[in-house]
Amino acid sequence: MFLGIDLGTSSVKVLLIDADQRIIGSAGAEMHVTRPHPGWSEQDPAEWITGTRSAMLALRASHPQEMARVKGIGLSGHMHGATLIDAADAVLRPCMLWNDTRSHAEAADFDADPDFRALTGNIVFPGFTAPKVEWVRRNEPQVFARTAKILLPKDYLRLWLTGEHVSEMSDAAGTAWLDTGARAWSDTLLAKAHLSRDHMPALVEGSGVSGMVRRELADEFGLKPSVVVAGGAGDNAASAVGMGTVTPNSAFVSLGTSGVLFVSNASYSPNPASAVHAFCHAIPATWHQMGVILSATDALNWFSGVAGKSPAELTAGLGAAAAPGNAVFLPYLSGERTPHNDATIRGAFVGLEHVTGTEDMVRAILDGVAFALRDSLEALKAAGTRPDRITAVGGGARSRTWIEAIANTLDLPIDMPADGEFGAAFGAARLGLLAATGADPMSICTPPSIGETITPDAALRPAYEAGYQRYRKLYPALKGI
Ligand code: XUL
Repeated sequence: MFLGIDLGTSSVKVLLIDADQRIIGSAGAEMHVTRPHPGWSEQDPAEWITGTRSAMLALRASHPQEMARVKGIGLSGHMHGATLIDAADAVLRPCMLWNDTRSHAEAADFDADPDFRALTGNIVFPGFTAPKVEWVRRNEPQVFARTAKILLPKDYLRLWLTGEHVSEMSDAAGTAWLDTGARAWSDTLLAKAHLSRDHMPALVEGSGVSGMVRRELADEFGLKPSVVVAGGAGDNAASAVGMGTVTPNSAFVSLGTSGVLFVSNASYSPNPASAVHAFCHAIPATWHQMGVILSATDALNWFSGVAGKSPAELTAGLGAAAAPGNAVFLPYLSGERTPHNDATIRGAFVGLEHVTGTEDMVRAILDGVAFALRDSLEALKAAGTRPDRITAVGGGARSRTWIEAIANTLDLPIDMPADGEFGAAFGAARLGLLAATGADPMSICTPPSIGETITPDAALRPAYEAGYQRYRKLYPALKGI
C-alpha cells in the first residue's frame, strides 16, 4: 500500500493505493486562503497539519488493515509558497502563496539581474519564492533575521511527518534559487538574495527517499514503523506523474485553482522570454515546461460567490460549448503569469448588454479561461514546444462544456481519462511507491486509459478563433486602466 498526500490550495487530499496502483480509499479536508490586502494571498501552515491529520485519521478509521500495510508516502503541494521557520522549526509568519503578488517590485529587481534568468531558466515571477522572501527582508526585517530555514508548503508537511528539512527538484525549481539545469541550489543566487545554503532544505529527486515517518505519527495513524517518505513533487509535476506525462511532448491541461498547460520535455528547455516556466520534473534527469494562469476554477468560484450558486449549479445546465457571445471575461483576478507577467492587472467583463444573463456570464468565464490557456499555448509554441494532444485533469475538467471550449480554443484533441483518480495525489502516491520499491519510474508512470477524446468542433472553430483574437486585444487596453 502507498499513500499520496496532495496539499492543494482549497483542500488537502490523501489517497491510498495498492501495489497494482488501484485506488483503495481517500480522505480530505478543506483549506482556506486569507487575503488581508489586495494582491496578498496567505495560509496558516497549522491548518495544513490539522487538515492532513484529520484526513489520515479518517483513512485509519475506514481502512485500518490497509494503513498498517503502507510502505511509502509521496507528498505533493501547491508550489512557490514561502514558509519561514526559526531555528526551533516554529513558523514565523503566515505562508505567502503562489498567487500572492505583493512582491512584484522585488521580483522585478531580481529579474533585472541576468544571472537569475540564466541560472533558473525562468522569469523571476512575483509568485515565486525568492521575491517573497526579499519582500520579508525589506518589510519585516525582524522576521527575516529569525528565519533559519525556508520551506515550500508540502516540505513543511514533510518536516512535521519526518522531522527532516528536505525538498525535491520540481518544487525547488519554482523558488528562483535553483540552478535548474544542474538540479542544485545556486550559491550565486542565494548570495544575491542575502541567503545561503544553510537556509535551504537538502534536495532529493521526487522519486528518491527523503526520510521516514516519525514514530509517534506512525502510531497515531496506524502505520508500521519505517514508512518511507518520497521526495514527492510540486502539484503540477505530481499530476504529470499521475497522468503519465513523463515522455517527451506528452502534455496535460489542469483546471484547478490555477490553470496549467504542462508539457514534458526531452531535455532542459529554458525560454524565459516567452514567460513559459521551465522546471525540473519529478523523475531524475527529466524537465518540463508549462504555461500558468493564476485563476481557472478560482474565477468560477469567485463568480459562484457573487451569483449565490455553486460552480456545479452554474455549469450543470450549460449543454455543449457554443460560439462565444458578446460578453468577454478576462480572468486576471490576482494578476497573470503566462504570458503577461503582470501582478497589477485585474480581471474584467467586457461587452455586457441588457440581454446578458447569468448563463452568458458563466460561458464567458469558461471561454475566458480557455482563451488565457490559448495564450499559454502560444507562449509554448514561441518556446519551441507544440503538443499535438493533451489530457485533462483537475476539478474543472468535470465540466464537459469547459473541456469542449478549451478543445475549440486550442484546436487540440483533449483526452479524458476513464473514471478514476489521476491527479496530484495519485502522482504523489506513485512517487511513494517508487521511493519505497525502487521500481523503474517509466514502468510505473504510465498514462491512464482514456474514456473519451473531445475533439475541436470544426463548425465552431472560426467563432472560437475570432473570440480569442478579440480577447487578445483587451489586455493592452486593460493595462492602461
Ligand atoms: C505553478 C503554480 C500553481 C500552483 C498551484 O507555477 O503556481 O499551479 O502550483 O497549485
